[in-house]
Amino acid sequence: MEEPELTDKEFAKFSDLIYQLTGIVINEGKRQLVLSRLTKRLRLHKITSFSEYYDLVTNSRDSEEQSAFINSITTNKTDFFREPHHFDFIAKELVPSLVQSARRGERAPKLRVWHAGCSTGEEPYTLGVTLSEALAAHPDWNWRQLASDIDTNVLAHAERGVYEESRTDTIAPSLLRKYFLRGVGEREGHYKVRRELQEHLTFRQVNLLDPAWPMKADTKFDIIFCRNVVIYFDKPTQKRLFERFAARLAPGGLLFIGHSESLLGISDAFDACGQTIYRLSGSASTLEKAA
Ligand SMILES: C[S@@+](CC[C@H](N)C(=O)[O-])C[C@H]1O[C@@H](n2cnc3c(N)ncnc32)[C@H](O)[C@@H]1O
Repeated sequence: MEEPELTDKEFAKFSDLIYQLTGIVINEGKRQLVLSRLTKRLRLHKITSFSEYYDLVTNSRDSEEQSAFINSITTNKTDFFREPHHFDFIAKELVPSLVQSARRGERAPKLRVWHAGCSTGEEPYTLGVTLSEALAAHPDWNWRQLASDIDTNVLAHAERGVYEESRTDTIAPSLLRKYFLRGVGEREGHYKVRRELQEHLTFRQVNLLDPAWPMKADTKFDIIFCRNVVIYFDKPTQKRLFERFAARLAPGGLLFIGHSESLLGISDAFDACGQTIYRLSGSASTLEKAA
């Protein structure tokens, strides 16, 4: 099959569509990426032109292809213990302070976390390991993690919780042994997250751009992780999203963002309280004090 050509007009139409559907900004520098990823979709459908593929994706009767189209465009790079200072902060500063205030009766022994843009699950499982360790002596504590992504493929991977051995290099051997099962036989070379970690998690497809998120309106989180997601969005989209995150955080709640992201000039609903760690401005709370 001959390589289909992506004209300037077609590229512009796809960029527009990606922006409308996901908020991801595709500039000229990403042209090769779009070309190579979409060419695979064309081949699969035995379609010979990008215009024809565009019609397929925008045809409302084929929402499955729209999902596959989105999945093919997202960038899902992630790692266990990525940006480890966030997990150090949670283990060494946040959890001890929360435990103290629960002891004083100032808060219930529970924590609600949202991983917005969780990719293949390394981030929520890293937090699961961190909280399991930090709260090991406090079995009364209850924590729940919502892990969401727009990409249904990575979400299915996250839910399976099975990783190639090479992906586990950043996990300390003692923690790997404790929280993962090593595959044998056919599964050799893979690790599966233990059920104890998975039990805290709920996975859901959430498009951060959707005007209504599927969580109940009164659901508030103590912590939102949205790391290395908004880097692909433009400023107006980031602004809207951070405002919505602020409305979803409990008083004094914390927002963790990626190493190359910032709220500077984008949102004043938060105060900086550590390297890429932000606290909801306003009322004092234990979360606030901990930070
Ligand atoms: C680079 S990964 C970051 C994963 C993880 N948070 C980390 O820092 O390692 C970015 C994720 O954001 C997701 N994403 C992009 N646009 C999104 C949107 N509009 N709604 C929800 N998730 C989105 C992508 O599918 C991708 O899995």
